Amino acid sequence: MIYSEKVMDHFTNPRNVGEIPDANAVGEVGNAKCGDIMRMYMKIEDNIIKDVKFKTFGCGAAIATSSMATELVKGKTIDEALKLTNKAVVEALEGLPDVKIHCSVLAEEAIKAAIDDYYKRQGLEPVSGISENSDHHHDGHSGDEE
Ligand code: FES
Repeated sequence: MIYSEKVMDHFTNPRNVGEIPDANAVGEVGNAKCGDIMRMYMKIEDNIIKDVKFKTFGCGAAIATSSMATELVKGKTIDEALKLTNKAVVEALEGLPDVKIHCSVLAEEAIKAAIDDYYKRQGLEPVSGISENSDHHHDGHSGDEE
């Protein structure tokens, strides 16, 4: 499998790894097929994602995509972060092999799950619905089928 330099860079030197102890948004998603899990922590203030960190128990592409996703949403507004698609993450990484596209889907969903959690903590309706049944959400994305 050929990975871009960007992917290798974010895999070997992932940005924003870890936890945020006083996070006010935490999202966890998993892919039932490969068993990989991604957890995203955010510190949100005044609608801005002031800090974001992740822990990924998964493949190299999952680590690279979560690293890139945190870079893309850090300092952004909630609305901007919600618009982040897995496609944008893949583009920022200069491509991913087809069989690894689902890993980038996990990154998009982890961001949305964290923001959902934030809304819930604020007593608001979650917007994306991702965190509700993350197990059922993954099938049918391109790259996820044999
Ligand atoms: Fe499952 Fe990459 S193989 S997230």
